[in-house]
Amino acid sequence: MKYLSLLAVIFVPLTSVSGGPCRCIYGQDCWPSEQAFSSLASRLSQPLLRPTPAALPCYGASPEACASVKTNFTDAQWRSNLPGVMQMTNLDTYIFPNNTISACPLAPVTGETCGQGSVPPVGVDARTPQDVQEAVRFAKRYNLRVVVHNTGHDFLGRSTGRGGFLVWTHWMKDIAFQESFVAETDRVGKGVQAITLGAGVQWVEAYKAIHAKGRIVVGGVSIGGTVGAAGGWILGGGHSALSPAYGFGVDNVLEFKLVTADAKYLTVNAHNNPSLFWALRGGGGGTFGIVTSVTYRTHPNVPLIASFATTNFSTPEIAQKVATEFIRVHPALSDYHWGGYSLFSNHSFQMFQIVPNVSQAEAQKTVQPFFDFLTDTAGNATLSGLMEFPTFLDWINFIFGLTPGSQVGFGQEVSSRLLAKDTALRKPEETAKLLLSLPRGVSLNSVAGGASSLIDPSSSAFHPSWRRAIAEITISESWGDSDSTVENIRAAQARLQATTRVLDTVTTDSAAYYNEATLHEDDFRKSFLGPHYRRLKEIKHQVDPDSLFVVPRGVGSEDWDDQLNCRK
Ligand SMILES: Cc1cc2nc3c(=O)[nH]c(=O)nc-3n(C[C@H](O)[C@H](O)[C@H](O)COP(=O)(O)OP(=O)(O)OC[C@H]3O[C@@H](n4cnc5c(N)ncnc54)[C@H](O)[C@@H]3O)c2cc1C
Ligand SMILES: *[C@@H]1O[C@H](CO)[C@@H](O)[C@H](O)[C@H]1NC(C)=O
Ligand SMILES: *[C@@H]1O[C@H](CO)[C@@H](O)[C@H](O)[C@H]1NC(C)=O
Ligand SMILES: *[C@@H]1O[C@H](CO)[C@@H](O)[C@H](O)[C@H]1NC(C)=O
Ligand SMILES: *[C@@H]1O[C@H](CO)[C@@H](O)[C@H](O)[C@H]1NC(C)=O
Ligand SMILES: *[C@@H]1O[C@H](CO)[C@@H](O)[C@H](O)[C@H]1NC(C)=O
Ligand SMILES: *[C@@H]1O[C@H](CO)[C@@H](O)[C@H](O)[C@H]1NC(C)=O
Repeated sequence: MKYLSLLAVIFVPLTSVSGGPCRCIYGQDCWPSEQAFSSLASRLSQPLLRPTPAALPCYGASPEACASVKTNFTDAQWRSNLPGVMQMTNLDTYIFPNNTISACPLAPVTGETCGQGSVPPVGVDARTPQDVQEAVRFAKRYNLRVVVHNTGHDFLGRSTGRGGFLVWTHWMKDIAFQESFVAETDRVGKGVQAITLGAGVQWVEAYKAIHAKGRIVVGGVSIGGTVGAAGGWILGGGHSALSPAYGFGVDNVLEFKLVTADAKYLTVNAHNNPSLFWALRGGGGGTFGIVTSVTYRTHPNVPLIASFATTNFSTPEIAQKVATEFIRVHPALSDYHWGGYSLFSNHSFQMFQIVPNVSQAEAQKTVQPFFDFLTDTAGNATLSGLMEFPTFLDWINFIFGLTPGSQVGFGQEVSSRLLAKDTALRKPEETAKLLLSLPRGVSLNSVAGGASSLIDPSSSAFHPSWRRAIAEITISESWGDSDSTVENIRAAQARLQATTRVLDTVTTDSAAYYNEATLHEDDFRKSFLGPHYRRLKEIKHQVDPDSLFVVPRGVGSEDWDDQLNCRK
């Protein structure tokens, strides 16, 4: 689209940018007055938010309030219901340039106060596109640092920001079914069955709604299903156990509704604003505007065959043999549409996968040889088998559960690399050896290959290496909430960075998954977006010339200082 207008935008000199080189941060003289905030509040559907850290009640006079926080602290739904609060507690802390930390640990040492950390102090509880438009106008007028926050699951801290202005999408919960959806201004398209999700809908809610309609949708997993279905997940790509059968999240979107930096409310699809449609599918959350809803294609409900295997290794040699074989057979399994998750180390191996719409006998033919290898190699400690589930939701419920468990509420950082099909076929042994050498083992998410690799890599902004991948490898560093000292956080980050460099040798292009990644990449543009970065930056200039939307490691963030408050 319109290369001329793109060029015109690129040559706008930076001096034309309004608001000076720095954002206005809470506590500075420029910060809007209470009067300005109450005038904003009068135009919103909800009262203004004054977000506070999750553990604040443990610094007050009520032991009951603190006890309740302690009980719920690792509950992902409870955390996502707190405005501005992240799922991982380290992301709520803030380390000043002088190396002091502002934090609010759950178990304070005597005399400690609760620091606001990175939690934005004021925000809008957006329920409608109009609320979002008012928030954007206000942020632009006062030159505030905008923080778009949905569930707070982000690992890069893109949904938090010290002294920023929160736009919270969590309660935009509308769900609508479209029996025959045709994208606006599409004159020739045939209607498809679709579901439109408000920006705050979480996967467990989407799955239950779509299940009731006898359909399925490609989506993510976690214990309790609290990841957002229409926020960062889709904007960063969106992988699923169903991706080898039906493609990634980005391959299943039909339309977005979005509020832009100039507060326009746009319909974005393949026909309307096609460049933006391309960018929103994988170019990253919090960068191009604020999405208010997403429309996904749905698929007919079909029964699924699930496979599972678990074993303990008595020696590293056995681990090496099993991991090699698993990697070697993986491309064939992905081509057969098996998708799911696995974990392995020198000590143990676990995998659970699904394949839709095949008979148990057919499915067994494809995976039994690997199970036999596993039993022959690892011995009697091996459990493996197949089960049938009537729907995707039944499998999710069986494996992950629909109520939030203790997957969050502590310190954690993750990093990832994509495993190419070619690498798995040509170098299974070396790859297995490398993965087993990493401390604490790896997760291998079988969420690529198959149908997802048949889709044109240039059809969306999602890193094109995903189309050559069969799996995503993730590694992590975790620590207790009370261990979030500057030294421990920095040490964990340094270990993760070192391990990432080792892991990087499985790739030729350093491709990572943007949504499961570390701030401490050697080159985030290359790892998260690869060759799509340049075009994304052009589109960013076009839709947000003043960079109202800036997030850590987002497109254009390299033009800002480390705090993202001032232009370089
Ligand atoms: C326990 C757990 C399980 C996970 N499982 C999966 C999985 O199965 N598959 C997978 O692909 N990923 C998975 N992820 C990663 C997940 O995709 C990212 O954490 C993602 O950023 C979450 O998006 P969110 O909207 O829920 O969270 P948030 O942290 O609220 O937002 C993330 C980013 O998106 C932006 N954003 C959110 N809403 C909007 C909006 N309406 N408009 C514009 N920008 C917006 C934010 O500004 C931020 O940049 C998982 C993460 C966790 C912690
Ligand atoms: C938090 O924990 C308490 C128990 O202390 C429980 O009664 C309450 O329902 C929980 N609150 C939420 C919002 O989950
Ligand atoms: C570090 O910087 C912060 C913010 O400027 C300040 O409040 C704090 O007192 C400083 N701490 C030390 C030990 O200098
Ligand atoms: C593997 O070992 C763990 C304990 O280390 C045990 O709980 C588990 O049951 C074992 N798995 C198998 C398949 O024997
Ligand atoms: C399921 O498989 C059958 C037989 O192979 C095929 O005809 C049908 O289209 C498939 N359905 C879906 C939803 O993939
Ligand atoms: C496995 O079980 C068989 C029969 O119970 C036994 O003979 C064999 O020694 C066992 N092998 C291992 C490795 O435990
Ligand atoms: C796993 O075993 C191999 C072979 O003994 C060894 O080289 C590697 O360091 C081990 N990995 C870990 C994390 O200990």
